[in-house]
Amino acid sequence: MNILVLGSGGREHTFAWKLAQSDKCSNLFVAPGNSGTATIAKNLNLVVTDFNAIKEEVLKNDINLVIVGPEDPLVQGIHDFFLNDKDLKSVSVIGPQKAAAQLEGSKEFAKEFMMRHNIPTAAYQSFTKANVEEGYKFLESLNAPYVLKADGLAAGKGVLILNDLNEAKSELKSMLVNAKFGDASTKVVIEEFLDGIELSCFVLTDGKDYKILPTAKDYKRIGEGDIGLNTGGMGAVSPVPFANKDFLDKIENQIVKPTVEGLKKDNLPYVGFIFIGLIKVGNDPKVIEYNVRMGDPETEAVLPRIKTDLVEIFKAMANKTLSKINIEIDDRAATTVMLVSGGYPEAYEKGKEISGLEHVEDSIVFHAGAKKENGKVLTSGGRVMAVTSYGNTYQEAIKKSYQNIEKLHFDKMYYRKDIGFDL
Ligand code: AMP
Ligand code: GLY
Repeated sequence: MNILVLGSGGREHTFAWKLAQSDKCSNLFVAPGNSGTATIAKNLNLVVTDFNAIKEEVLKNDINLVIVGPEDPLVQGIHDFFLNDKDLKSVSVIGPQKAAAQLEGSKEFAKEFMMRHNIPTAAYQSFTKANVEEGYKFLESLNAPYVLKADGLAAGKGVLILNDLNEAKSELKSMLVNAKFGDASTKVVIEEFLDGIELSCFVLTDGKDYKILPTAKDYKRIGEGDIGLNTGGMGAVSPVPFANKDFLDKIENQIVKPTVEGLKKDNLPYVGFIFIGLIKVGNDPKVIEYNVRMGDPETEAVLPRIKTDLVEIFKAMANKTLSKINIEIDDRAATTVMLVSGGYPEAYEKGKEISGLEHVEDSIVFHAGAKKENGKVLTSGGRVMAVTSYGNTYQEAIKKSYQNIEKLHFDKMYYRKDIGFDL
């Protein structure tokens, strides 16, 4: 089978790494990929939302299976594009069609879905420019902190959590009236603040059945102790120690089952990953958000724990026979730590040479914002590499990652030294 992975991050390197281990994978392509994927696959120089260019490469390379890494192409309808094209419709695509991708593409859509299917989440109301005054009144009826969410995709920046009522009102105005997040904030969801510890649950579905993958916890803030600006993610731990059997059963019964059933009832075809961002409030899980893809860097901690052939899993999803396969999980913990460019998530420099990769032992280095040029591996993004390790406990795994990070270097390299601190 010839396989294409769309994307260029650590998540996509991890997919490629796992797919390359399958004897069912003949030729592996990643578009656009990075210096890591280049060592195990052929990188194709494509933009992930340029569907016509993707079509050309899929046909030229006789690709049978496409795994969509990031959300943008899904929200823009890449799966529908394949289904509606006579030359592409026999190609399997892992990722939901446009209608269901709205679970990530529109916060309001996701909220309405959860209300319709009785899925526990924060109370909310949504507002537009036309009823901004009602938005102020709604804010007045809530207690601080105030949670404001741009409805559309805003590259992870569209959620504001504010302690001050006047600031919340002025941000609401700037989102709705002054288009702070462009079209993404034409609508704003205001919701009840939930206090608790976060974790992520990953579900595979073929539209009929589902399989739950190991949980993970992501560390989103740039600073140690979870302070400072939000990032794409600075590290992850899998499994999440506080998610015991009782809590996992609640997640499955109160959230996963009604989500998959809800997709069916609403006639939203879905073959792909459902990434459910959760918060544990007291002893109960509530949904913070849906994503229609895997998380990054959660993938770098979750996929290495899957022992089953990933090509087999994707084939079963595409053929709607997911219920027939057994997904075997490694009992060990896996952790990953992101190395980022100094300054990220604000301005940072690129083109720094990365050294020491050949000295890493007993950890896996997944490349993200890194490229190869004239035989050197250079930084090319904010999040540069993820260092993943296994251990009998997450503490043991994290120690291994930190020992190997000591051997890696690039100018202004930064990473959090406290991944797992709160567990
Ligand atoms: P989202 O993009 O919806 O995942 O939101 C980004 C982050 O904001 C989440 O990871 C949470 O840390 C935080 N957040 C979102 N919604 C809430 C809420 N209702 N209560 C508390 N924190 C929230
Ligand atoms: N790490 C969070 C995300 O991928 O959205």
